[in-house]
Amino acid sequence: MTAQIIDGKAFAATIRDKVAGHVARLKADHDIVPGLAVVLVGEDPASQVYVRSKGKQTVEVGMQSFEHKLDVNTSEANLLALVERLNGDPAVHGILVQLPLPKHLDEDLVINAIDPAKDVDGFHISNVGLLSTGQKSMVPCTPLGCLMMLRDFHGSLSGMDAVVIGRSNIVGKPMAQLLLGDSCTVTIAHSRTRDIADVVRRADIVVAAVGRPEMVPGDWIKPGATVIDVGINRIDAPEKGEGKTRLVGDVDFASASRVAGAITPVPGGVGPMTIACLLANTVTACCRANG
Ligand code: GUN
Repeated sequence: MTAQIIDGKAFAATIRDKVAGHVARLKADHDIVPGLAVVLVGEDPASQVYVRSKGKQTVEVGMQSFEHKLDVNTSEANLLALVERLNGDPAVHGILVQLPLPKHLDEDLVINAIDPAKDVDGFHISNVGLLSTGQKSMVPCTPLGCLMMLRDFHGSLSGMDAVVIGRSNIVGKPMAQLLLGDSCTVTIAHSRTRDIADVVRRADIVVAAVGRPEMVPGDWIKPGATVIDVGINRIDAPEKGEGKTRLVGDVDFASASRVAGAITPVPGGVGPMTIACLLANTVTACCRANG
């Protein structure tokens, strides 16, 4: 069997088009321009790439982008003061503080200082609580993008066995909540799970979000299952030449795509969906703020 490829890049482009349409209508009918503020502390190269990409796409759909770059040694008080300022700025509808933060800054404290209504990442404790109790909330972008791809591919997910590999607050836990909300039977597997291969083999849906390159081999996948690969790992690629690298997921694509029914590629799967959902969340926050 050769898996169908779920094209996240193309799907994300359709979401961005819809967002651009909403933004144009907000401007034409109400003279409102949604604004997204992104805060980056330090110079982590991967974070810099993400932040640049977020800013570029925000502008491309017609929204305002506010980028705040703080020195790696910035104090917690300084960062919290910036968050407070953004909370009070009516031109800012969404606030994203890029993670990870440098070690001397308390991530929970900073995230929970964001106005929950502007928390387009869905990481604030009140949004986490709302999601887990099935209430209207800001939903974390990466799991939301995964859910949209799964719904688009399957229609209803009701009754399906889903395994989420990874228990992070950013992806694993909210992903499990979303799948539960769509009436899947959900298992969260992690580094201490016994017989993880057997656990994964029972799943109709596998979401891999561990950050370990090609950790999930094809023989863990049930024939015909749908595989969503959240991992974006850069590894050495000597076959491409000295010093060259390539991106791989958490799933061994070559072997898994021979067994799965459908699979997301890396790159071009979950990654583009995450930013598209961030833009969509910003429009949602703007609409809620303006009644
Ligand atoms: N770092 C890696 N992924 C994310 C994300 O979705 N949001 C934020 N704020 N930081 C991240």
